[in-house]
Amino acid sequence: MKKTCYLSFNECVTILVMASLVATTFAGNFYDDMDITFGGARAKILNGGQDLTLSLDQYSGSGFQSKHEYLFGRFDMQIKLVPGNSAGTVTTFYLSSQGAAHDEIDFEFLGNSSGNPYTIHTNVFAQGKGDKEQQFHLWFDPSAAFHTYTILWNSQRIIFLIDNIPIRVFNNNEASGVPFPKSQPMRVYASLWNADDWATQGGRVKTDWTKAPFTASYRKFNANANMVVGANQMPTSSGNENQAWSTQGLDAAGRNRLRWVQTKYMIYNYCNDKKRFPNGLPTECKL
Ligand SMILES: *[C@@H]1O[C@H](CO)[C@@H](O)[C@H](O)[C@H]1NC(C)=O
Repeated sequence: MKKTCYLSFNECVTILVMASLVATTFAGNFYDDMDITFGGARAKILNGGQDLTLSLDQYSGSGFQSKHEYLFGRFDMQIKLVPGNSAGTVTTFYLSSQGAAHDEIDFEFLGNSSGNPYTIHTNVFAQGKGDKEQQFHLWFDPSAAFHTYTILWNSQRIIFLIDNIPIRVFNNNEASGVPFPKSQPMRVYASLWNADDWATQGGRVKTDWTKAPFTASYRKFNANANMVVGANQMPTSSGNENQAWSTQGLDAAGRNRLRWVQTKYMIYNYCNDKKRFPNGLPTECKL
């Protein structure tokens, strides 16, 4: 057996236990995990780091990003969206790398006028190219309570989940020539901004600034992921049992749930948009 610890057995055990404690405490503290990126005091970390709120007014939105970069992982965030008349607002939770040929995995929540449903917009970019949108309505009111939004990203597939229910799977089809995000480390981002030129009912419904500031709340961020530090990758999960994400796919129950969501709640799928792709649907849509 390869000797991996050069200390006494007890010291090694102590260090291992401490390392896992550190990882556990990190999970879910916004002070440790995130930096505010724009909007100044419109972004607030509250309750000792357990809660984070973003707000939007006529002058600016706000946002934050993870301190660390990751290459593959399971990223969970609980979010409560802007209540009431949220028309024109867009709330986001996504992963992205840097640069022109960047990779990105998106959840965007497009607000609506009171009584009308939010649209959940998902997209995947690989090497700078997106155009892989799927949109959904929800089976609950996402502004009434917190719900868990998850991006699971491993080398074989990306799974979008809401309250642990898979809503979309984007498979690695590199073998058929479809680029897949797998070598650029990504950060976690979130933001709340005004997009009333396009977001709600195609841009026809504008943001009602008399209702500002608009606020969305985040909590319980958890990354069971490979953190990239310099050239090294370190698993940051709080225990080995949490590594399931690295090979996770859908079992029969998962496929049933996915079918249920896609049949009842999907409102747009680029793979069905023949008008948009007059020269033929993208390769992955035909597989
Ligand atoms: C807003 O509500 C309308 C009417 O129910 C719906 O068609 C639309 O998808 C909803 N979402 C957005 C972002 O416009």
